[in-house]
Amino acid sequence: MKYITGICLIIFLIFGIFSCTSEPPPGGGVEIPEFDDDIILHEKWPFLVGAAVPGARTNNSNAASDVANALNPGSPQHRLLNHFNVVVAENEMKPDYIMPSAQGGAYNWTDSDALVNYAEANNKKIRGHVLIWHDQTPDWFFRGNGTSGRATIDELYERMEAHIKTVFEKYGGRIEWWDVVNEVIDHDQSGPRRDSRGRYTEIMIDAGKSGMDRYEYVLKAFEWARQYADANGGTDVKLYLTDFGVERPFTRGTSTKQDDFYDLAAWLIEKDAPIDGIGFQGHFRLYDHPVEQISAGIDMFSALERKDGRNLMIQICELDFSIFSNAKGEGQALTISNNLLNERLTDLAATYRDFFDMFKEKYDEGKLDAVLLWGLTDGHSWLNNHPLTGRTDYPLLFNRNYTAKEAYIRLVD
Ligand code: GLA
Repeated sequence: MKYITGICLIIFLIFGIFSCTSEPPPGGGVEIPEFDDDIILHEKWPFLVGAAVPGARTNNSNAASDVANALNPGSPQHRLLNHFNVVVAENEMKPDYIMPSAQGGAYNWTDSDALVNYAEANNKKIRGHVLIWHDQTPDWFFRGNGTSGRATIDELYERMEAHIKTVFEKYGGRIEWWDVVNEVIDHDQSGPRRDSRGRYTEIMIDAGKSGMDRYEYVLKAFEWARQYADANGGTDVKLYLTDFGVERPFTRGTSTKQDDFYDLAAWLIEKDAPIDGIGFQGHFRLYDHPVEQISAGIDMFSALERKDGRNLMIQICELDFSIFSNAKGEGQALTISNNLLNERLTDLAATYRDFFDMFKEKYDEGKLDAVLLWGLTDGHSWLNNHPLTGRTDYPLLFNRNYTAKEAYIRLVD
């Protein structure tokens, strides 16, 4: 018995795989002993490693948590935050959260203040998410005296500028990076968003803009962000353009989404927009997003050079890996069968490690400086309700019961 325990201990020490624990926790993965909280994830990697703090309205997820809960030192989420040196609010800095719900009302800073104060008190950096986005923005922002009740371009620009000014007057240089504009490119056809959520594009077209000029609002947003950041003590604040589905090429319409996003970034640089970097959201699926393709995407965008000779920096700003693979025909599946789950979680761990090793190479080459996960535990992830409601997914580093998954162990190994 002593002999067996000894072997288990050696395996445990060498591999950090906790073969001696009996029952795996609900949701798979391996139990992590208490003392392993001392193995801090972000200390293992040279780039910054961050996470989204679970939000109050997490896309209808079955989360019982909110930001105040996560920031409460007694909560299990709070303990997990120790592993990250950057935080981003899952929802609490989005336009619809801080902006008044009716035009002319007051801003609500309660939860964003809590997050900023927490980060400062705990020596963590903050990503601001997000200034301008078609989604999670109050309806009044897009309504007005233009075509079919839409805002005119002047109304829209006045509101955009006022919002950006308000946010920088509030937080100045306390937030290191801002997602200035999110998800500009359409996912199903070439060019800027034209789907039901293309509210900015509609107003640009109402105003007679065509071609690349349909992106004029993006350029304006960057100019205002720089102007008001600088005016409020935020000259070091870095400004990002972010999107999903642009990390690797796939064709829809007559071009790839990646090429359209690249053309937008290049156009912004040509217009001398004060853009500092590109945020790849990084919502990936196990088996469907090869690390080599994402590596090539980082090379492609980090090669873009501003007029002052500085290259764009890349951040992976919303990383998660769904364990449901379209390539394996699981696009409509709600669960993964028990006999497949353990293998999936091991493959997930290997994939996280491959990606982090690749990110380190990019960091060493000066192309990438931060990687943020979109959430803390599998139970809070938006992927339990996307693309299908009621899914049980396992995309992150910590189990539903706040213990570490094999993926975490491979990253600190
Ligand atoms: C996008 C947004 C995020 C979040 C996720 C889903 O990626 O940028 O703010 O809403 O979708 O949770």
